[in-house]
Amino acid sequence: MSLPKVIADGPLAEAVATLMDGRVELLPWSVAIEGSADPVDGIYTYGHPHLDGAMLDRLSGVRVISNYGVGVDHIQLDDAAARGIPVGNTPGILNGATADMAMTLLLAAGRRLIEGDQYARSPEFTTYDPGYMLGREIHGTTIGIIGMGRIGGEIAKRARGFDMRVLYHNRSRREEAESLHQATYCSLDDLLDQSDYVVVVTPLTEQTRGLIDRPQLERMKSTAILVNIARGPIVSTAALTWALQEGQIYAAGLDVTDPEPLPRDHPLLACKNLTIAPHLGSGTEQTRQRMAEVSVENLLAGLAGDPLPQPVGA
Ligand code: 8YV
Repeated sequence: MSLPKVIADGPLAEAVATLMDGRVELLPWSVAIEGSADPVDGIYTYGHPHLDGAMLDRLSGVRVISNYGVGVDHIQLDDAAARGIPVGNTPGILNGATADMAMTLLLAAGRRLIEGDQYARSPEFTTYDPGYMLGREIHGTTIGIIGMGRIGGEIAKRARGFDMRVLYHNRSRREEAESLHQATYCSLDDLLDQSDYVVVVTPLTEQTRGLIDRPQLERMKSTAILVNIARGPIVSTAALTWALQEGQIYAAGLDVTDPEPLPRDHPLLACKNLTIAPHLGSGTEQTRQRMAEVSVENLLAGLAGDPLPQPVGA
């Protein structure tokens, strides 16, 4: 009996490939781009490839789309739904790792860790000076979390451990977060005005694209730090470059950018007050293993015609 045919954007992580081995026949992403006269059974999105209705119409037989990761902004969900194709993702299991990454960037940006690391290794470091590279306080300051979902809640919990006051902005109030983490709901403008650390955790949608642009950065304190662990296009790259170059804000910590990666000669990369990571939010061995398991479970369930264990939006 032939194996179900699955298009995937590889190369896939070893954990994913091992779980699929002997269960599916993998086809390259070029099949999704060019279309195929032969039926295809499933699609596996590994590294945010764009997937829309036009692409689905160039294929036939697709019974499931499985995404490695929680964010599905690269998949046109309405197009999949209109064609009756279920989409699965990997929520929940990456909340802790991604919240840890937000705190890692916040701490590193606030305390100028990368700059300090580079100096400590450089030939210039010959004498200790208590006056150099002073950063910003973290404990006892105010954090403003934009997007109080599952990851936002985990960040709030960690921030409370640093004795931070927690503000949040969300489409709707989250009373559970308010009582669990003593988080205070406020408008986006109030959050930007008051926060020492602004952390972007909201999904990328048409409403959140460009949410942080020049007027929003102008509202922030000159001592404030912006952290984005969500998706690059939520923050305007041009406006952030300006804000860091001009000292409109103190620093930024980015796990995501727009575009991703940035052109190697982009002026944002030259800003010393930028701490940047190459989209490592959920990047721990343990979390990525679980993501492999859940995404392959979704794929195999869809191929078998069963309900997905983790359908998008559940
Ligand atoms: C994933 C992410 O690792 O889950 C998400 O939405 O952004 C990442 O943490 C990524 O999607 C896999 O490429």
